[in-house]
Amino acid sequence: MTQTKSSVTLVDNQSGKKYELPVLSGAIGPQVIDVRKLYTDSGYFTYDPGYTSTGACKSKITYIDGDEGVLLHRGYAIEDLAEHSDFMEVAYLILKGELPNKAEKAKFERDVTLHTMLHEQINRFFSGFRRDAHPMAVMCGVVGALSAFYHDSLDISDPHQRMIASYRLIAKMPTIAAMAYKYSIGQPFMYPRNDLGYAENFLQMTFGVPCEPYKPNPVLSKAMDKIFILHADHEQNASTSTVRLAGSSGANPFACIAAGIATLWGPAHGGANEAVLKMLAEIGSKDRIPEFIKRVKDKNEGVRLMGFGHRVYKNYDPRAKVMSATCKAVLGELGVSDPLLEIAVELERIALQDEYFVSKKLYPNVDFYSGIILKAMGFPVAMFTALFALARTVGWIAQWNEMIEDPEQKIGRPRQLYTGASKRPFVAIEKRA
Ligand code: CMC
Repeated sequence: MTQTKSSVTLVDNQSGKKYELPVLSGAIGPQVIDVRKLYTDSGYFTYDPGYTSTGACKSKITYIDGDEGVLLHRGYAIEDLAEHSDFMEVAYLILKGELPNKAEKAKFERDVTLHTMLHEQINRFFSGFRRDAHPMAVMCGVVGALSAFYHDSLDISDPHQRMIASYRLIAKMPTIAAMAYKYSIGQPFMYPRNDLGYAENFLQMTFGVPCEPYKPNPVLSKAMDKIFILHADHEQNASTSTVRLAGSSGANPFACIAAGIATLWGPAHGGANEAVLKMLAEIGSKDRIPEFIKRVKDKNEGVRLMGFGHRVYKNYDPRAKVMSATCKAVLGELGVSDPLLEIAVELERIALQDEYFVSKKLYPNVDFYSGIILKAMGFPVAMFTALFALARTVGWIAQWNEMIEDPEQKIGRPRQLYTGASKRPFVAIEKRA
């Protein structure tokens, strides 16, 4: 981040005073107005609910150009990573800043793999939940509880402990997500198998059973790995910002990631993949699409086309392009024909030609097709967001590490525009109307 020679002058029309605000420039992307001294100099706060114009931190991890539909991790295009890389390599890249060489990759995989097992006592947490608990409810609880077990990786001022916590989280999330699923269907938990790859092992823990050897399906493993890559990080979205905010107070990494999971759960964020499938099922058939679109366009109905629209992308979400192609390939390989896919393809076609969506620049996002693939792979709808959380963990923890190492980091503490009552005298209860 460099300070440019340019600045922005803010003129207070009431007092006539002028304030010079420095302009900062990143590597690429819009310049930012540095308002850090605005309050001390002028007495004004900025007002930006939803942070639509606010850069809350500087970051080297992920870059999005929403107008062009570009997503880069550490400078590498998501399409290239999805095509040529694998999730462990992308995790290394996001966490450490560079693609690993062969030896670095092998060591990283080994180091992460050594942490796949959970403390045996954590298994008992699961039996405290109802069998029909939502997997995200279970994930929030169990991931938060990791801080009660791994006391040797809670000191956030120690880089080694931060690294161990990061590896633990990346390694244990598949185990926890798979256990949440197994518990919901009443099957025994499967221990991780360290001879399998990251995605393969997750599928083994989810779909394997102790009474039969698990045979990985390479098509499914590859698709799972790609889905993980597509969800690995996404700049300062709601859950990542939550992780950073929680971490800014000095909270431990397991607690911070649990906070991220809670935020991801909402239907406007990661919960959208689940919502898309429910929406497609509700529409039911292609001939009912126009009627549904009419409802979406009627503000009084309060219906949204789930899997469409994005705060940053005003163009096709590049992840959605890869996801749509993967979806068609996986269904083809599996020989599955899903009527929901036909509805989704037709819905997308109609929406992309409709003036409402065109004028508002609403395009399919990553969640539009992911649910259809996950369903074809055998995941129940309730697991979709848990898979998103599993994959996003590397992004969350990389952003958390970056924040801790940033010398400009302060506790996150936004201010407000107070609209409540001014100071008034206390009224005794017998005198209240
Ligand atoms: N269907 C219908 N109208 C929409 C949609 C949609 N999916 N998304 C936005 N709009 C309209 C909205 O009504 C508003 O119209 P107007 O200007 O007339 O009031 C306009 O587009 C701008 O919408 P907004 O809600 O102000 O935009 P936002 O940036 O605050 O919200 C969003 C972004 C993703 C929450 C929203 O587009 C949405 O709710 N999409 C559906 C949920 C979804 O798919 N979420 C997944 C996001 S990608 C994965 C992730 O990040 O987790």
